[in-house]
Amino acid sequence: MSITLGKDDWWKGAVVYQIYPRSFADSNGDGIGDIPGITSKLDYLADLGVDVLWLSPVYKSPQDDNGYDISDYQDIDPLFGTLDDMRHLINETHARGMKLVMDLVVNHTSDEHPWFVESSSSLDNPKRDWYIWRDAVDGREPTDHQAAFSGSVWQWNENTQQYFLHIFSKKQPDLNWENPEVRAAVYSMMNWWLEQGVDGFRMDVINLISKHQDFSAGDDLFGPWMNGPRIHEFLQEMNREVLRDKGLITVGEMPGCTVELAQQYTAPERHELNMVFTFEHMDLDTNPEGYGKWDLVPFTVKALKENLNKWQKGLEQVGWNSLYWNNHDQPRIVSRWGNDSAEHRVNSAKAFGTVLHLMRGTPYVYQGEEFGMTSAHFTKLSQYRDLETLNWAAEAPEMGISEDYVLKAVGYKGRDNARTPVQWDDSVNAGFTSGEPWISVNTNYPEINAAAAVADADSVFHHYQKLIAMRHGMDVVVNGSFDMLWIEHEQLFAYTRELNGRILTVVANLSNDTVELPGSVSGDAVLGVKADVLAPWQAFVTLQN
Ligand code: NOJ
Repeated sequence: MSITLGKDDWWKGAVVYQIYPRSFADSNGDGIGDIPGITSKLDYLADLGVDVLWLSPVYKSPQDDNGYDISDYQDIDPLFGTLDDMRHLINETHARGMKLVMDLVVNHTSDEHPWFVESSSSLDNPKRDWYIWRDAVDGREPTDHQAAFSGSVWQWNENTQQYFLHIFSKKQPDLNWENPEVRAAVYSMMNWWLEQGVDGFRMDVINLISKHQDFSAGDDLFGPWMNGPRIHEFLQEMNREVLRDKGLITVGEMPGCTVELAQQYTAPERHELNMVFTFEHMDLDTNPEGYGKWDLVPFTVKALKENLNKWQKGLEQVGWNSLYWNNHDQPRIVSRWGNDSAEHRVNSAKAFGTVLHLMRGTPYVYQGEEFGMTSAHFTKLSQYRDLETLNWAAEAPEMGISEDYVLKAVGYKGRDNARTPVQWDDSVNAGFTSGEPWISVNTNYPEINAAAAVADADSVFHHYQKLIAMRHGMDVVVNGSFDMLWIEHEQLFAYTRELNGRILTVVANLSNDTVELPGSVSGDAVLGVKADVLAPWQAFVTLQN
């Protein structure tokens, strides 16, 4: 059955591939991936079959947070290349029938952005109100809120004797979206990028742009800042000023987004965003009562199913979600909840890929996931580069956390686990760079690399190719209803999708054990081998017409 999607909903049938440019492919031997490096791999991406490339930030930046701290939105950082390189990449991407999405980081800028330089220059500077400034209270920070990357959210500015707000690092001051001039400047910048030919935006922590002005509302990390009273108004304004009727793809990264809010953010008639990126399913191994992401609790398949079932059903009638296990902020799923041993890596990577890609939503593949790259397995703190990890490791002893626990927690969950260079082949530095890589290449690259996976018909790469082709070719994958099977089961992740009498059944054993199915499955296998007893990490998909 052919899929009829139009200009306004083509992204429902699409698969997005995320590129973290710094770690993707280095063309000039400086050890840092760059835009010409990306261009050189476009044929590989087209062969995989993905529709959209999302680039993590390549704008001019002091690189405090690897580019999520932008000092010029309309220029490219020399580390990554030039605007001409970028235009060439856009053209070459389009020439292969793919689209390109920019990362829009407008909750904050770099403290080296000219807007902030002006804003912090004097109390009466015309841009003073472009950021969020407050007086000291009793000689100290106005509130006790903690920043996402450790320490207070308030940073003292000696020059003007006030604090400014930074939800992330102190080099990432938050913009004041209450000020209409800020909003107009952002929209004008977005329109400029559309003129350069980009096809949409992934919007960084976009539900933090409207803050609760009294800094109240919940004591979790982002409580006072997220889903504020004007968020829908701002997104609708952005939609009117920039996005509407252009056939773009828009995805909002939204910590603390609930099902109800996601319905509001993505209902087409509300004209806000196409889809959201949510976090609940990724936080299942964090202690909800604890001190944050490093306070680990064991992962269970059952909790994952309960959570995703809630989201699948909750957005079945209204709204659209992104589907992801991996990105530049998450460790690799095959090491996190799968099994990356030589025996089980390939099958566990395939099993997680299978359950993800055939749910309702738009799947995201993060570079290297398509051939089963693993987490870094660093053993020393000196191997890490990420400020989130390093800041927490520095503050952990004061919280009474042992060095052993720090190494364990960052080894499991640190963001650098996903940021080691893409392993292209078995040559020096995995073919990523001819120079010294900015972060170590995983030592498993001689076995795990793209070239080996492409050459092997049973590899994770070819499995992902098939999953992507299924979304492109099967209406039931895009538009079918969703029903979780055997939700109480501790090891199986299984569900059906149904459309006009066609039923797709997805069954995966997400465990190291052999598992007998609790019931029968109808239809013929369209992926994997149908069985009543599943080997560890075995998965299959059937179709009944
Ligand atoms: C979310 C991004 O994905 C993350 O990498 C970044 O550090 C923060 N937002 C701040 O921009």
